[in-house]
Amino acid sequence: MKLQVDLKENSYPIYIENGILEHAGGYLSQIFTGRKIMVISDDHVYPLYGKKLINSLDSWECHTLVLPHGEPTKSFQTLSEVYSAMLEARISRSDLVIALGGGVIGDLAGFAAATYLRGVKLVQVPTSLLAQVDSSVGGKTAVDLPQGKNLAGAFYHPKMVLIDPDVLQTLPERFIHDGMGEVIKYGCIKDRALFDTLKEHRSFDSLKEELASVIFRCVDIKRIVVEKDQFDTGERMLLNFGHTLAHTIEQFYRYSRESHGEAVAIGMYQITKIAEEKGLTAPGCADSLKEVLDAYGLPHQCGLPLSSLTAAITLDKKNLNSHLNVVLLHTVGDSYVYPTDTEFFKGDFLV
Ligand SMILES: NC(=O)c1ccc[n+]([C@@H]2O[C@H](COP(=O)([O-])OP(=O)(O)OC[C@H]3O[C@@H](n4cnc5c(N)ncnc54)[C@H](O)[C@@H]3O)[C@@H](O)[C@H]2O)c1
Ligand SMILES: [Zn+2]
Repeated sequence: MKLQVDLKENSYPIYIENGILEHAGGYLSQIFTGRKIMVISDDHVYPLYGKKLINSLDSWECHTLVLPHGEPTKSFQTLSEVYSAMLEARISRSDLVIALGGGVIGDLAGFAAATYLRGVKLVQVPTSLLAQVDSSVGGKTAVDLPQGKNLAGAFYHPKMVLIDPDVLQTLPERFIHDGMGEVIKYGCIKDRALFDTLKEHRSFDSLKEELASVIFRCVDIKRIVVEKDQFDTGERMLLNFGHTLAHTIEQFYRYSRESHGEAVAIGMYQITKIAEEKGLTAPGCADSLKEVLDAYGLPHQCGLPLSSLTAAITLDKKNLNSHLNVVLLHTVGDSYVYPTDTEFFKGDFLV
């Protein structure tokens, strides 16, 4: 299956195919005529898939950099290690960087490719569900700073994205759940049929037979939204459905309790419940959402009083003047941006 992200001179293809990793070289030759490739990966992913990928790249001189797995790797310190490895391998402006891994490697290697020698070609080979449906498409790259996540970064599009759903077989269950939070989000904001497919299957195991097409649907939605709003000033906001509360929950627990996908799950359900009560969302959506979240091992509440979260939302620098845009559903599959203020989250109940 192929998709083309149409961004004029920044356009690129996305291929989604079981087993594509072993044929990566054939696809790359469409866009890359340079000599050297730097493959950047982590110590979980590389031992599983590094060889498979490299074996298919025998027309090029390949170098590899394998970093520790996990969010702390997305740092300035690691970034300088990446530059050093690239200099040592004498990677030039006509060479290529491949990010083989989850969102951490994709964001870090993407930012390194965006900035090394003012930019070298980048190909994303995302291996986590979250990276396949979300972070590898859209051109956002970043590293974290001690003060917060993603605080230094760049918009930098890859030349190609290669998605192999087969690799998800080794992805730990926790991260499957995490990615499913975003998959369910796509159904909610833009695609009733996708939501219904998820509802019918009732588990990730049963969804496996249709996984490539589910990933295709998600990536296609992200593609459409990104094409309309390359630099994240409007339409992309819809992708933030559930994320206002999610970010607050993640920050409240200092990223140590709920994973991002779990926090998004809670955020989507709770905002839909609040919007239903205000008559801004069709009745029954919150229940429907809860059923699907349950089926994919995701929570819909975290037991915090709304007032604690509201205080945190108010403190968030982005919400100065108390003005706030939230993403709501008219109904499942149809979303909109609703301008409001922090009063929206006033109430006396547990989230
Ligand atoms: N750029 C964007 O638009 C965007 C969007 C969403 C999230 N993100 C970023 O993505 C990051 C999270 O991504 P993530 O959840 O993929 O985290 P991750 O990269 O840490 O991957 C999760 C874990 O799964 C392992 N793993 C990955 N693929 C595997 C496989 N096929 N088999 C076995 N293990 C595998 C990794 O080694 C890691 O331990 C965050 O830093 C977040 O900020 C970026
Ligand atoms: Zn998210």
